[in-house]
Amino acid sequence: MQAFEHSGETSMNPSARKLATGLAIGAMLAGMASVAVAQEAPKVGKGQRFYETVCAKCHEGGIGPVIKGRGFPEMTYMVIVRNGFNAMPAFRVSDIDDETLKDLASYLSKTPVKP
Ligand code: HEC
Repeated sequence: MQAFEHSGETSMNPSARKLATGLAIGAMLAGMASVAVAQEAPKVGKGQRFYETVCAKCHEGGIGPVIKGRGFPEMTYMVIVRNGFNAMPAFRVSDIDDETLKDLASYLSKTPVKP
C-alpha cells in the first residue's frame, strides 16, 4: 500500500491530466456563466440601488432638487457626483466606484422626463 500513498498527482498520465484540467476549467466557466446570469436577473441594478439608498435621502427628501426625469446626460451626474455641487458633497471612488457611478448615471439619465 505504501506505493499508492504518494501516487495521487504523479500517477496521472499526461493526457488524463490535460483532460482533468480541461474539466476543471470547464466547470469554472460554467460556474461563472451561471453567476453572470444570476446577476442579470434582478430588475434593480446597483446604480439604482445606490440612488435609492444614498442620493434619494437628499433628492427625494426635500434637501436637494429632484434629479430623476430631468433629461440630464450621464456626464452631468458623473461630474456632479465626483465633484459635489454647492451644498451637495462630492463622492470619492471609495464612496461609489466608477462602475456603480456609470450604472447610476445611465439609470438616472434614462428616467422618463415628465411632460
Ligand atoms: C447630502 C445630501 C445630498 C446627497 C446624498 C446627494 N445630493 Fe445631489 N444635491 C444636493 C443638493 C443640496 C443639491 C443642490 C445644490 C445647489 O443647487 O446648490 C444637489 C444637486 C445635485 C444635482 C444637480 C441638480 C440641479 O438641478 O442642478 C445632481 C445631478 C445631483 N445632485 C446628483 C446626485 C446624485 C446622483 C447623488 C447620489 C450619488 C446625489 N446627488 C447625492 C444634495 C445631495
